[in-house]
Amino acid sequence: MSEKKRLLTGDRPTGKMHLGHLVGSIYNRVKLQDKYETYILVADLHMLTTKNEPQHIADIDKNAHDMVLDQIAAGLEPEKVTFYMQSGIPEIHEMYTLFQSLVTVARLERLPSLKDMARDANIEMPLALLGYPVLQAADILCVRGDLVPVGKDNIAHVEITREIARRFNHMYGETLPEPDGLVGEIPTLVGTDGQSKMSKSLNNAIFLSDGPKEVEKKVMSMYTDPNRVRADIPGTVEGNPVFEYHDAFNTNKAEVEDLKTRYRAGKVGDVEVKEKLVAAINAVLAPMHERRAQFEESGLIEEILVNGTEKARAETQQTLYAMKKAMGLSGVWNRIRRKVEKREKKQG
Ligand code: TRP
Repeated sequence: MSEKKRLLTGDRPTGKMHLGHLVGSIYNRVKLQDKYETYILVADLHMLTTKNEPQHIADIDKNAHDMVLDQIAAGLEPEKVTFYMQSGIPEIHEMYTLFQSLVTVARLERLPSLKDMARDANIEMPLALLGYPVLQAADILCVRGDLVPVGKDNIAHVEITREIARRFNHMYGETLPEPDGLVGEIPTLVGTDGQSKMSKSLNNAIFLSDGPKEVEKKVMSMYTDPNRVRADIPGTVEGNPVFEYHDAFNTNKAEVEDLKTRYRAGKVGDVEVKEKLVAAINAVLAPMHERRAQFEESGLIEEILVNGTEKARAETQQTLYAMKKAMGLSGVWNRIRRKVEKREKKQG
């Protein structure tokens, strides 16, 4: 058995990943993959809590493929990381059901994250969305995760997971680990429009799969200091998305400092600042495109996801068995099953 602690995290399959995912989560996953036995799930059942129409579902497979590919291209190694498809593990539903009696409706109704999701999706709170954090607890505990890196909005869900594990252990005996949440220190990356966070649906994203020409097009039309109508007017660096990106992606810190100084003094044009940003972002993405090419169209991504799901499923079955045993539930079931089998034998 491995002695490493386990890390579990994941994303809903809503589409290709972008620079916001890179700084917000993927870099951190890459960094932690050696230290932890890493599991990354594609949370399609979670997506269904707000997006369950046929056209949403039709995109799941493609999106799952793209997201696994994006993450491998960015440096996650398929030999180290287990990628799994949530809906490929039916035992997750079973675990989810067992957890439902360990949390109150009032506790879930108080979570702002769920209200926000319902509002953003323009729907009334479905039962499935109210249960979102409980389903998330099943994702985390099914592989007995110890560490759960998440965004700020999800940390409350890890807290619910801890409460569920604690309650379970208290009621039935020590069975489940109490996982720790880990919130990244990196602030949310603003979109190219400078208005809100980078997001595919807002059309303000630079994707990890974007080629040099697309990056150039998107950066050159980026929102910058709106008050700076000419290059000789002093500009504002703080809160300027172009400089936020320089800070995040340009490894040449001296160049960034020089640009900032000249920008504040009205001694550099937007075009030069943006062209240097294009070069910096393309330098980050170039090695990813190389890794991507090795995997793309090879059919390997599907294989990685299928094998990972099998592995995570075996872990889940083990956890579920331990849970039922602690609860005394498996005993009841096995006695019934044996009775039925005996009767069937008698009847021939
Ligand atoms: N809730 C996460 C999101 O906002 C996705 C997710 C589902 C997840 N299950 C998880 C994250 C378990 C960490 C651990 O997309």
